[in-house]
Amino acid sequence: MKIGIFDSGIGGVTVLHQALKQLPNEDYIYYADTQNVPYGEKPKEEVKRYIFEAVDFIARQGVKAVVIACNTATSVAVEDLRAKYAFPVLGIEPAVKPAVQASEAMGKRVLVLATSLTLKEKKFHDLVDRIDSHAIVDKLPLPNLVQFAERYQFQEDDVIRYLEDQLTPFDLKQYGTVVLGCTHFPFFKAAIRKLFPDDVVLMDGSVGTVKHLKRVLEASGQTGDGTGQVTFYTSGVKVEDGVLLSQYHRLLEML
Ligand code: DGL
Repeated sequence: MKIGIFDSGIGGVTVLHQALKQLPNEDYIYYADTQNVPYGEKPKEEVKRYIFEAVDFIARQGVKAVVIACNTATSVAVEDLRAKYAFPVLGIEPAVKPAVQASEAMGKRVLVLATSLTLKEKKFHDLVDRIDSHAIVDKLPLPNLVQFAERYQFQEDDVIRYLEDQLTPFDLKQYGTVVLGCTHFPFFKAAIRKLFPDDVVLMDGSVGTVKHLKRVLEASGQTGDGTGQVTFYTSGVKVEDGVLLSQYHRLLEML
């Protein structure tokens, strides 16, 4: 059986990329809810409805696990999804813990970049409360990056201007680590890196999430004998269009 990877849009491709690297002998369904992206600026209940529609669809295709490759969807729905489905549901969340450890060792601060909904949710506040004992974590919502990514704009002047604008109130020298707490953001690594001091470390949760998936599959004896084949869906429709398929493959190559 396949593994489902789900995001509101193209962001989850950053997790798919890791999955293909760490678990090449699996086959995947990649589901982007392009009709409803962005999730991060919408009311929680509306987003939850979209997530359940998407995961219901993925479940009907027959999967052995689903990865919620969207920090926003994880923060609003992962517990409810786990209660509903019999297969394991894994969620990505901002890599705050390794970032705090690394920044503490450098005597520096952490900046978490994510969607507004992720940063507002209890799950995120609980995570920070548990880990940030020295109050070194700052946060910044960057909703427009999701929109830029969905238009495949990663390095354009508008992107750089937006980032510079949003980062103006922050003293960038004080940060040792920057958490990319939205799966759309690793596509902007080059642009973000340029704005911070050279030694800044950018962290995202994709490696850890896929490691966890690997452990779950191994523990239940469910590792696959696939070939890394990916079937793409956008909001319940199988992607057959060659142009869109090659765009997804180009995104995978960008990472
Ligand atoms: N990629 C998603 C995340 O990791 C959210 C993007 C959106 O706002 O839909 O949070």
